[in-house]
Amino acid sequence: MNVTVFGVGYVGLVQAAAFADFGHVVCCVDVDQEKMDHLKKGIIPIFEPGLTEMVKRNYDAGRLIFTTDPVEGVAHAAVNFIAVGTPPDEDGSADLQYVLVVAETIAIHMKEPKIIVDKSTVPVGTADKVAERVSQVLAERGENLGFNVVSNPEFLKEGSALDDCMRPERIIIGTDSINVETVMRELYEPFNRNHDRMMVMDVRSAEFTKYAANCLLATKISFMNEMSNLAELMGVDIEQVRRGIGSDSRIGYQFIYPGCGYGGSCFPKDVQALEKAARQVGYEAKILQAVEAVNLAQKQKLFEHVIKHYGADLSGKTFALWGLAFKPNTDDMREASSRVLLEALLAAGARVQAFDPEAMEEAQRIYGNRDDLVLMGTKEAALHGADALIIVTEWKNFRVPDYSLFKNELSGGVIFDGRNLYDPKRVEEFGLAYYGIGRGRSILKN
Ligand SMILES: NC(=O)c1ccc[n+]([C@@H]2O[C@H](COP(=O)([O-])OP(=O)(O)OC[C@H]3O[C@@H](n4cnc5c(N)ncnc54)[C@H](O)[C@@H]3O)[C@@H](O)[C@H]2O)c1
Repeated sequence: MNVTVFGVGYVGLVQAAAFADFGHVVCCVDVDQEKMDHLKKGIIPIFEPGLTEMVKRNYDAGRLIFTTDPVEGVAHAAVNFIAVGTPPDEDGSADLQYVLVVAETIAIHMKEPKIIVDKSTVPVGTADKVAERVSQVLAERGENLGFNVVSNPEFLKEGSALDDCMRPERIIIGTDSINVETVMRELYEPFNRNHDRMMVMDVRSAEFTKYAANCLLATKISFMNEMSNLAELMGVDIEQVRRGIGSDSRIGYQFIYPGCGYGGSCFPKDVQALEKAARQVGYEAKILQAVEAVNLAQKQKLFEHVIKHYGADLSGKTFALWGLAFKPNTDDMREASSRVLLEALLAAGARVQAFDPEAMEEAQRIYGNRDDLVLMGTKEAALHGADALIIVTEWKNFRVPDYSLFKNELSGGVIFDGRNLYDPKRVEEFGLAYYGIGRGRSILKN
């Protein structure tokens, strides 16, 4: 089948590559000319395991087309996906301007009926808004072309996006049209070979499903962070508790890691957006408010530990910071906890030597050149001459500690572990001080 995808970011590019890999011919349209030029040369704008090879393979085979020309994109296929960003508005609601611009673009250029698919995360009622905008433009053009708006939210996780996309746990399709369902089934047929993963529902329920999923996951994280704060105060080791409760199959081990807060382009904005949407229908979403508040506070946690240890004035202190991406296996630093910490450290007069396996270019783009922030080539180099190490992202290659190296390199002998990667007892046996998240035992001992 021919497919068009508007918005070639984390979601659009991965979904387009996955469709193409199964044999569909996908036209990718973006407003970013440089990004499109790079993609044609095989330069992939984001780090996502396996994506570069998949994009190259399908571009070379002619199944991926990159363009900034919306006329070409709209003409290419009967199914047009919208996968542009939906960032938070000033008040935290989802900003739909990019989605509606694409809807308008499709309406301006369409010459035959279209199926317009909302793949971006959008609030309940957005499909109606998209339909309204398309109808308006068609009326202005004096055209009477048919179209349907479908909700097909995306559940991929950055860092394992290709796998998630190729083998989705579910494909949610929101439509009340049998014809549209048939087309979407055909499109997703190759993804359903093992078993049918498609769930068809009404449009509004599909839109809501995405928010409910993200908000529940964020709730698990904030709940666990709240438990970790209590653990710290009560002399409890939250890691023991995590194992204890995770073993309950009703709870499970996923998303109950205590840490220094969640970030990324989805959870923070989606929790806020649903909370705002709730207000608009006259409901106060107290759990969502608490999830957000706990997370904002949790992002300060590492800095609180730092000033507990060193006092508020950090001038003359150097910190090795491991991990800038909001989570492992991505270079995405949107809403990353590292940014909150980094900015607090710099504001308190500290110098930071930072390292991340993938997000160095992104950090350079965000912070530019400055004397108090040095981006280091390796994790070991970041330790050199530092007073203390702070771990913010749980990259795999941070998980095996070289305590002797820490002991030799860190003049202050302190580790602030924002992801509880290390065993406090072992760290302390090497004569280093350790601050984790909710590790009551070690904090009380210190
Ligand atoms: N990133 C994720 O992990 C993830 C997962 C699930 C859902 N989502 C949702 O998917 C949507 C997209 O997220 P993303 O992370 O891929 O965003 P992104 O910022 O990485 O990409 C968006 C792309 O859209 C392009 N764009 C903007 N206006 C355009 C227009 N008029 N025409 C064509 N292209 C245009 C931008 O140039 C950019 O390349 C959001 O709603 C997000 O909430 C994201």
